[in-house]
Amino acid sequence: MPDAEQISMRRLQLADADAVLYLDRLAFSRPWSRDAYLEELGENQLARYIGFFAGERLIAFAGYWLIVDEGHIVNVAVHPNYRRQGWGELLMRRLITFCLAEGATRMTLEVRRHNQAACRLYHKLGFETKGLRPGYYDEPPDDALIMWLELPGPVAGE
Ligand SMILES: CC(C)(COP(=O)(O)OP(=O)(O)OC[C@H]1O[C@@H](n2cnc3c(N)ncnc32)[C@H](O)[C@@H]1OP(=O)(O)O)[C@@H](O)C(=O)NCCC(=O)NCCS
Repeated sequence: MPDAEQISMRRLQLADADAVLYLDRLAFSRPWSRDAYLEELGENQLARYIGFFAGERLIAFAGYWLIVDEGHIVNVAVHPNYRRQGWGELLMRRLITFCLAEGATRMTLEVRRHNQAACRLYHKLGFETKGLRPGYYDEPPDDALIMWLELPGPVAGE
């Protein structure tokens, strides 16, 4: 469990777009555009993003779209200096809690087959591979694994 004393969490908003973009560029070989994040953080009613901050500095973020009763994870990234300290796992657990609170019954994501860190993280949390999109990614070329996590439903009689 990371030292939560030092780090705060909050929902991200339009004003966070540049910090998100910076982290995205550190984390991904095909980063999203600034316009894409402005849309995600400011316009997209389906999108919810949360971030972890060390003081004012964004050190990790993740986002999902709530589509009816499914949480579709779109991005998860931890600053390279903060990796392997439990923040990615905590972030994902927070997303799961948010999805449950909004009535989602399952969650899904796509991940590069050779992204060992992310695949292990998702398996640790209970995600299972249910599909494969061959050659889905480039830079570098890779297949996409499609993973799903079934969320616990309400207890019968409640
Ligand atoms: C994937 C990523 C979010 C993991 O974040 P993190 O904060 O380093 O992960 P955590 O420290 O919380 O690790 C949680 C679990 O993930 C797995 N994991 C994380 N990094 C790993 C690595 N380098 N190698 C193998 N397993 C790893 C382990 O199962 C780990 O559990 P353990 O500590 O009990 O072994 C981070 O590496 C990252 O930002 N990568 C670049 C962006 C990316 O690939 N995002 C996912 C796109 S689908």
